[in-house]
Amino acid sequence: MPSSHPIREAFRAPIRHALGPNQIVEFADGLLAVDESGRIAACDAYDRLFPRLPGDCVIHDYTNFWITPGFIDCHVHLPQLDCRNKNGLTLLDWLAKYIYPAETKFADPHVVRNMAERFYDELLKHGITTAAIYSTIHYEATEIAFQFAKEKGLRAIIGQVLMDQNAPQSLLKSHLQLLNETEKLIAKWHGCDNRLFYAVTPRFALTCSKTLLDEAGKLALEAKVYFQTHLAETRQEWQQAKEMHSFKSYAGFYESRHALSSRSLFAHCIYLEDCDFKILSDYHASVAHCPTSNVFLKSGTMPIEKVETYGLHFGLGTDVGAGPTFSMQEIIGCACEVHPKEMMNREKGFYLATLGGAEALSLAHQIGNFVEGKWADFCLFDNPNFEGRAKKVFVAGQCIWKP
Ligand code: GUN
Ligand code: FE
Repeated sequence: MPSSHPIREAFRAPIRHALGPNQIVEFADGLLAVDESGRIAACDAYDRLFPRLPGDCVIHDYTNFWITPGFIDCHVHLPQLDCRNKNGLTLLDWLAKYIYPAETKFADPHVVRNMAERFYDELLKHGITTAAIYSTIHYEATEIAFQFAKEKGLRAIIGQVLMDQNAPQSLLKSHLQLLNETEKLIAKWHGCDNRLFYAVTPRFALTCSKTLLDEAGKLALEAKVYFQTHLAETRQEWQQAKEMHSFKSYAGFYESRHALSSRSLFAHCIYLEDCDFKILSDYHASVAHCPTSNVFLKSGTMPIEKVETYGLHFGLGTDVGAGPTFSMQEIIGCACEVHPKEMMNREKGFYLATLGGAEALSLAHQIGNFVEGKWADFCLFDNPNFEGRAKKVFVAGQCIWKP
C-alpha cells in the first residue's frame, strides 16, 4: 500500500463511484480501505484487495448494504428548511411572500439553532456530506450555521447573505457592516478543521448595490474564499437586473465586480447568452444546477448543452426551499425528465451528485470518489440505487451520522 499512514479499517460492501461523467466503477463485492488519517488507502474488489491489507486491519462487514461517495449539494438555503412546497408563485413573488418573512425570523438565535439542528440532520440523512449553504443576512445566524456544521462534522461552504437594497428593511444592512461581518466570519471559519469554508454570498443582483457587489467580489478574490450567488434564474429577474445595473452581459457585470474566479459558484444560469458562458468559462467559474427548484418555481430549464460546450464545471443543488427535496436521487430523476436523454441519464446524474459536484466546488482533489489519498467521505444505503435514507454516513473515515 503506498499510503504513508497505517491502514486502520476497511469496509466490505458493493461499492459504486465515478471516475468521470461516463465512467462509473462498480464492485459487486468491494473493499474500501481507509488509513489512519481518514483518507482512502485503496478501493478495489474484495478478493484483490484483502490479501494486500495488514493482518490487524479491521474489516467491517457491510455486505447487506451499498457504498457510495457522500453526495455533494452545490446550493442550499439553511433558513428555508420549513419553506418548502409553497406553490403557485414565481421567484420574485415567492421571495417576497414566503422567503423574506421566514429569513427575518433568523434574527432570533433560538430559531436558528432549532432549524440548524434539523437542517444538518436532513442533509446527512440523505447522504449529503458536503454542501454549499446560504445563511441569512444575520451575523449570529451565520455563526450558528458554522458552529452546527462543525459539531455535526460534515463539510460545508457557508456564507452570510449580503443584501443592501430592494428587500424588506429588516433584511437590509449597509455594505460597510456586511463586509465587516463577512471579514470576521472569514477569519474565524474559513479552513476550519479542513472541512469548513467561507463563501462571500451576495443574494443576487437585484438586492445588491453595485458598491456592495464590488466590495464583495474584491473581498472574495483577496481572501481567496468562495463567491456564490444566484444568476439568471428567471427572465423577469434577468430583465430587472439589466435595467437596475444597466449591463449588457449578466456575467460581464460580475466580471466587472471582480467576482469571477474558479471559486465562483453561480446557481441556476438559465437565461445566459453565449457571451456570458464564454466569460464564466474564461474564469473557470462553476454552475450549481438545481432542476427540482427550476421545476417548482417554473423558472425554466438550464441549457445543459451550452454549459458543457463552454466546458463549465457544474454540480447539482437541492436549492431547498425552492427545491422541495434533499434526495439526490429525486434530483437526478428530475434532471433526467427535463433534459434530453442525450444530455442526461442516471449514470451522469450519479457522477454530478458526487465527483461533478466536487469539481464544481474545486474540491475534487479531496473528495468526490474513492481515489487513493482523498478523504473517505461515504455513505451506506440499504439499496443499490441509494434511494431513501442513508444507513450510515462517514466523513474522513469517521461515522458522523446513523439513524
Ligand atoms: N434568488 C434570490 N434569492 C433566492 C432564493 O432564496 N432562492 C432561489 N431559488 N432563488 C433566489
Ligand atoms: Fe437558491
